Amino acid sequence: MTPPRHIAIIMDGNGRWAQARHLPRLAGHRAGAEALDRAMHLCRDAGVEFLTVYAFSTENWRRSKAEVSGLMALLSTYIANKADELVANSVRFRVIGRRGDLSARLQREIAALEERTRDGAFTLVVALSYGGRDEIVRAAGRLVQARMSSGDSAAVTEEEFGALLDTAGIPDPDLIVRSSGELRLSNFLLWQAAYAEFFFTQTLWPDFGKEDFDAALAAFAKRERRMGGRIKR
Ligand code: IPE
Ligand code: IPE
Ligand code: MG
Repeated sequence: MTPPRHIAIIMDGNGRWAQARHLPRLAGHRAGAEALDRAMHLCRDAGVEFLTVYAFSTENWRRSKAEVSGLMALLSTYIANKADELVANSVRFRVIGRRGDLSARLQREIAALEERTRDGAFTLVVALSYGGRDEIVRAAGRLVQARMSSGDSAAVTEEEFGALLDTAGIPDPDLIVRSSGELRLSNFLLWQAAYAEFFFTQTLWPDFGKEDFDAALAAFAKRERRMGGRIKR
């Protein structure tokens, strides 16, 4: 069974996980970070090459100040604590999204880790202050800038546009997983999801483990990806 080359995960349900245990929401996010480590190891062991995770959306800024700053602090800690492990495991770390929205310190930490891990064989993409629409609009802005300075008026191709997205150089996800029972994209990878397969599980993200991962891979293996072509069976 050939595994998906790229899995993208909407890590949802941290808040409900914490609530069920009468814990603060941040405890759920901390447990979610551990689930991310598990998922990354499962991906590597299964031969997956790219893992993209939705960690913070452009809409998540609407949450309470305490939750937002707690999440940002958690990210900083994650980077500081995991850097050596990522290097040792040959993981290339990359961030997509509006990184300019993040604190100057967090931006420096991200840039340093991206640089340190640039030659890693397995790619972990973290979507931070990310929105699919925002990414597309920013790419359109770059296109306008480039065309205005070059005076080029040739038709825009999907390849040209795709190379202006934050995900330039990263293949589209083959499988998108969402935990916690919600059946929506919530502004995740709108362009890149064009031909992705979907897997939804009721499991809350902090509880996500091998069982759910294997179920996702098994479901993916049964899908016939026609990409617009005719039915083969
Ligand atoms: C997902 O968990 C993590 C982030 C959005 C940062 P939630 O915090 O959305 O968890 P629920 O949906 O409230 O349970
Ligand atoms: C999507 O989850 C964003 C992340 C997992 C980071 P949300 O919990 O923010 O999505 P909605 O609000 O339920 O659509
Ligand atoms: Mg949620």
